[in-house]
Amino acid sequence: MRKPFICGNWKMNKTWNEAVDFLGDFLPRLQGVDGGKVQVGIGAPFISLERMATTAKGSILEIGAENCFWEEKGAFTGEIAPNMIKAAGSTFVIIGHSERRQYFGETNETINKKLVALLKHGLVGVVCIGETLAQREADQAEAVVKDHITGSLKGIAADDLKNVVLAYEPVWAIGTGKTASPAQAQEIHAFARKTLSDLYGAAIADATRILYGGSMNPANVKELMACPDVDGGLIGGAALKPDDFEKLVKFNQ
Ligand code: 13P
Repeated sequence: MRKPFICGNWKMNKTWNEAVDFLGDFLPRLQGVDGGKVQVGIGAPFISLERMATTAKGSILEIGAENCFWEEKGAFTGEIAPNMIKAAGSTFVIIGHSERRQYFGETNETINKKLVALLKHGLVGVVCIGETLAQREADQAEAVVKDHITGSLKGIAADDLKNVVLAYEPVWAIGTGKTASPAQAQEIHAFARKTLSDLYGAAIADATRILYGGSMNPANVKELMACPDVDGGLIGGAALKPDDFEKLVKFNQ
């Protein structure tokens, strides 16, 4: 069965010492949480990764980056390569977030190149997909999700899917307090799994986790996680507060 993955995405929040303060409060709350039953991660700004990973050592908390570049090294001023992220103790990288599509010109092609590059270094790729409000209203949600999946995963070998997690984040639900209803989430998650099945077969589709993201919080986590095809959450605002994030991590306790 698919192990639930509760993953924070801090976005551009917290200095490194605020990050360490957060962990000082949060890590003790993970004592007694069975890492065999739930995977817990936080995606954080590059500059905090090493310190967070060192601080979290020995706990079940994994640290990840929110982006990476696709080249190994060289004259790419300001960019960060996957091997640097790995060396800083991270285990995963969030790629293709809608904010990166919107503000930084990310496309299926650049997301695909990043995924190829990070998989080479044994990192897990958390690949974001999802439609805007205009696309949903134009009845294009499924077409967009299919395009994001096929474009992002182009040329990725079946064997590498064990290191890929999808995150369905309807853009209209991000940071708006407007969550997709469980029925809306389940509908797209089932469609995303069918798309995976068409590409890689049923066994891989059944084994691949699909997280939901968009205003997930302690009040709605249980009903979203009850959906058969929702395998976890990618959480923005609620992951910045130890109280809320603890409740999300303990959704099944
Ligand atoms: P919120 O949980 O703040 O809506 O953000 C969701 C998100 O974008 C996670 O990647």
